Amino acid sequence: MPAKPAASDVEADLDRLVQAVSASAKYRSICRELVEHIGRQELAKRRNLREAIKATKNKLHQVGGAYLHDEAPYADWLAELRAVQHPAELRPLCRKIMEAHASTRERLPILDEFYATCLAGLPPVRSVLDLACGLNPLALPWLPLAEDATYRAIDVYEDMMAFVRDFMALPLAGVRGRAEARNVLQLESLPRVDLALLLKAIPCLEQMDKTAGAKLLNVIQADHLLVSFPAHSLGHRDKGMAEHYEAHFRQLLAGRPGQIRRFQFSGELAFLISAEKGVKLG
Ligand SMILES: C[S@@+](CC[C@H](N)C(=O)[O-])C[C@H]1O[C@@H](n2cnc3c(N)ncnc32)[C@H](O)[C@@H]1O
Repeated sequence: MPAKPAASDVEADLDRLVQAVSASAKYRSICRELVEHIGRQELAKRRNLREAIKATKNKLHQVGGAYLHDEAPYADWLAELRAVQHPAELRPLCRKIMEAHASTRERLPILDEFYATCLAGLPPVRSVLDLACGLNPLALPWLPLAEDATYRAIDVYEDMMAFVRDFMALPLAGVRGRAEARNVLQLESLPRVDLALLLKAIPCLEQMDKTAGAKLLNVIQADHLLVSFPAHSLGHRDKGMAEHYEAHFRQLLAGRPGQIRRFQFSGELAFLISAEKGVKLG
C-alpha cells in the first residue's frame, strides 16, 4: 500500500492547486474557501496533483462556472444602476442584468408571478437570507419586503458579491444589504430570518456534497423557507427531473415541523415551508 502523504505535503500540494486554479480567468474570482474545500477532496481521491487540479476545475465548472458565460461587466451595470432616475427604469435594468446568470435568466419569464405567488399572504418580510444566490438579489424589486428590511446574500464569486453589495448599498435597492463570497456549506452559523431563499441550489450543492441539502435544512433558521428546483436541466428538458427532485426533497423534509406549500411554474418547482405557529424552522 502506498505511504500516506505527510500533512505538510498535502498542504503544499493544496497551495499549488489553489494557485493553479486561481490562475485561470474562469475560476479566479471563486472564493479560496471553496477552491480549498473541493481541492482537498480531489487531492485525496486523485493519483497526482495534475489530476486533482483538473478535477477541481471540473467540479467548479459544475457548481458555478456553468451558469456564467462571458465576463460580467459589473462596473458598467453599477454605473447604469446609479444613473436610474425613475423607479420605472429599475425593473427592466435588473432584468437585463439577471440575463447574465443562467439560473436567474431562466426565471425571468415567470418572475412577475414567482414571488407574488409563492409569498402571497406572508406578513411584510423584514429579513432575508439568500443562499447560493447568484444574481437573484437583483430580483429585489419583485420581493414584498418591509421598509428597511435586511438582505444577506451569499455565493462563491468575490466579484459578483462585490457587485451585489454595491447594488444593495444604492438607496433604490431599499434594503440594508450584506453580500459575502462564502461556501454556504462552511458557514458556522446562520442568523434567524423571516425568509430564507434556497433557490435551485440543492441539486447544485449536492454535486459537491451529497448531504448538502440535509445539512442546510439543519442550520437554516427561518419563519419561511422558499426552496426551488429546476424543472429542466441547463440547456434541455428532462422528463421526470422535477418528480425526482420533489421525491428527494420530501424525504429531506420528513419528520421536520412546518407547513409545506407547493408551486409549479414553467421551468421551476417551488416549495414554501412555513414554521408552525410560534415554532421556528431550524
Ligand atoms: C443553480 S444556481 C442558483 C442561483 C440562484 N439561487 C437562483 O436561483 O437564481 C446555483 C448557484 O450556487 C452557487 N454555488 C455553488 N456552490 C456554492 C457553494 N458551495 N456556496 C455558495 N454558493 C454556491 C453558484 O455560484 C450559483 O450561483
